[in-house]
Amino acid sequence: MSRNLEFDENMCGAAETGQKQLKLFVETFGCQMNGNDSEVVVSVMRDNGFVLTADPENADVILMNTCAIRENAEKKALNRLMHFIQEKRKRPGLKVGVIGCMAAGLKEKLKKNGSQVDIIAGPDSYRQLPSLIQEADGGQQAVNILLSREETYADISPVRMDKNGVSSFVSIMRGCNNFCSYCVVPRTRGRERSRNPHSVFREVEKLAEQGYREVTLLGQNVNSYRWKEESTGKEIDFAGLISRVASVSMDMRVRFSTSHPKDISDRLLYTIAEHNNICRHIHLPVQSGSTRILNLMNRGYSRKSYLERVNAAKKIIPGCSVSTDIIAGFCSETEEDHHETMTLMEEAGFDFAFMFKYSERPGTAAAKNLPDDVAGDVKTRRLNEIIELQNRLSSESNKKEEGKTYTVLAEGKSKKSPLELFGRTSHNKVAVFPEGNIKPGDYADIVITGYTSATLIGRIRNRS
Ligand code: 5AD
Ligand code: SF4
Repeated sequence: MSRNLEFDENMCGAAETGQKQLKLFVETFGCQMNGNDSEVVVSVMRDNGFVLTADPENADVILMNTCAIRENAEKKALNRLMHFIQEKRKRPGLKVGVIGCMAAGLKEKLKKNGSQVDIIAGPDSYRQLPSLIQEADGGQQAVNILLSREETYADISPVRMDKNGVSSFVSIMRGCNNFCSYCVVPRTRGRERSRNPHSVFREVEKLAEQGYREVTLLGQNVNSYRWKEESTGKEIDFAGLISRVASVSMDMRVRFSTSHPKDISDRLLYTIAEHNNICRHIHLPVQSGSTRILNLMNRGYSRKSYLERVNAAKKIIPGCSVSTDIIAGFCSETEEDHHETMTLMEEAGFDFAFMFKYSERPGTAAAKNLPDDVAGDVKTRRLNEIIELQNRLSSESNKKEEGKTYTVLAEGKSKKSPLELFGRTSHNKVAVFPEGNIKPGDYADIVITGYTSATLIGRIRNRS
């Protein structure tokens, strides 16, 4: 998935330099963290006199914020990059930069055209972008792919680029220390570091003042958030952090992503249960239902302990929904392992899931030690079976909602009809309902009258 940043030139308030203001176009690939990183990048660039444009043909500088998690994500970004490199032929002044997770590995991937990329910046060098662009103006390629053990961009106020002004994202940590054997993230984003909680609280308070109604706290593994106050020696963990964030405004919903099954504690589950405005939804990637495969993946939990955590979440937080990520066809996966994934899906009763075929990533432990030996057509078939099963589970889960009433936070117009709005329930299900006099940002009580596997259909009961 790629997104162009939505913008409003006033928002970018470029510095009055007396010189021509350079126009910046940013395109983002990949996850929510990348989306939030692009907002940090725009903030840095704005403070250095750039204005944002929604049209790449208008831009003086194009930055592509890339994702390396699977081969097809990289291919998509590389195709787009080749298009921008062609543009440079027509407009020689144009500078093209590749930033984010693909930056470090880019030179090898672009053996022939690599030198035509003007700026290469890894996820920890966004503060240096203005100076890298200046360096590239001198005609040479400007590169900074160093990873940091400290950078969290805590003091930078991201320029909000969401369309609706209702929901926003706040990164609370960066990097990952888990080294799941298939995953490139610890190599592309570096070691895990938590952000100063006071800067998180300030950012959330500002969002509440601006009228935002929902904030999602982001990290690769939020459950291992930890910060020690130097002056007092006091420590705050994720349960402590989210509980403070939830107390900023009762009108603001709080979500978080992603949780690691090995670290999700009862303490956190009880904290969620205690706060009405912390959403009743946990994204808990399982990856596989086979303990043998989970060990090869270096996930740090078994099938049994994963299911125990799902049961604990449902018991401690009544009505909690659980979603997941699943990888089909990991190294040495047998039909029996695959079958275990399917039975685990049934047992856990996932409400929704993101499902992928295993994609070998260079430099990971799996790439070094485990042959990618499940044939392509077998991976495809297993993935299709997983998707089909999840569609059935999602439909069954949605069917149970008929007749119930949920408080939905309206986010915007539904894609299908201008007379309908869409929003989400606390347990993260999308509901579509007739507009009435509800506006995006309002909470509305919605009676569920129908469903598809992806959406609840409802009508307004009354306005809260
Ligand atoms: N191949 C396929 N899927 C992957 N993911 C991470 N690395 C890979 C890979 N090499 C998936 C995992 C993770 C999600 C963000 O992406 O399911 O939870
Ligand atoms: Fe990758 Fe595992 Fe870290 Fe998630 S927890 S980012 S899958 S290494």
